Amino acid sequence: MKRIISPSMLSADFGNLERDTKMIDASAAEWVHIDVMDGVFVPNISFGFPVLKAIRKATTKFLDVHLMIVEPEKYVARFAEAGAALITVHHEAVSDMGGCLELIRESGAMTGVSIKPATPVSVLASYLERLDLVLIMSVEPGFGGQSFIEGSLDKVRELRQMASTPEMRAARQARGLGELIIEIDGGISAANAGAAFEAGCDALVAGNAVFGAPDPAAEIEKMLNS
Ligand code: DX5
Ligand code: ZN
Repeated sequence: MKRIISPSMLSADFGNLERDTKMIDASAAEWVHIDVMDGVFVPNISFGFPVLKAIRKATTKFLDVHLMIVEPEKYVARFAEAGAALITVHHEAVSDMGGCLELIRESGAMTGVSIKPATPVSVLASYLERLDLVLIMSVEPGFGGQSFIEGSLDKVRELRQMASTPEMRAARQARGLGELIIEIDGGISAANAGAAFEAGCDALVAGNAVFGAPDPAAEIEKMLNS
């Protein structure tokens, strides 16, 4: 299992986006998390392509793009062109997931699907063998700085079990895929990072905990070592 921190740029200082991106670039965080919101799938609007491109220019790190938008399939190619290394769409936002995942693969990005807190992991069963990553939301998507929803780690454990059966491993292998990467997003800090890794997470998104800390790089180290 990997241990990756993916700081969410939603909590960065947008007046100093280059400075904050470079600060993450110099830290132990391997990924950078980009939250795209459309005001329809979630009750908030964040940013789109120009901001993603600006972040891409300021870091060589893996760009982990979380699309909280309806009809994400329409924009997959453009997000890949703008620098996304992983494109995560929401299960609740896509009607033809097979087609959408194909578009993401064709774009050259890794494939991710996220589920909201009320969505059970069982909905992923029919296409889990095709995914590089699943993102478990541990807050309602839309805003940074919310409290972690207890019980989210049970979903992580259940998902890890689903992904680890011999049948699932074989099906993934046949498609050239290794172990499923599990990421969690919302309310993560040094206080619960250790428990999240232990439950089976490979990647932790953290916005407020990183950018709200007096020393963000030290906070990232703390989360990695917890
Ligand atoms: C919420 C976003 C999160 C958010 C996390 O919809 O998907 O990535 O930025 O922020 P914190 O870590 O502050 O909960
Ligand atoms: Zn996110």
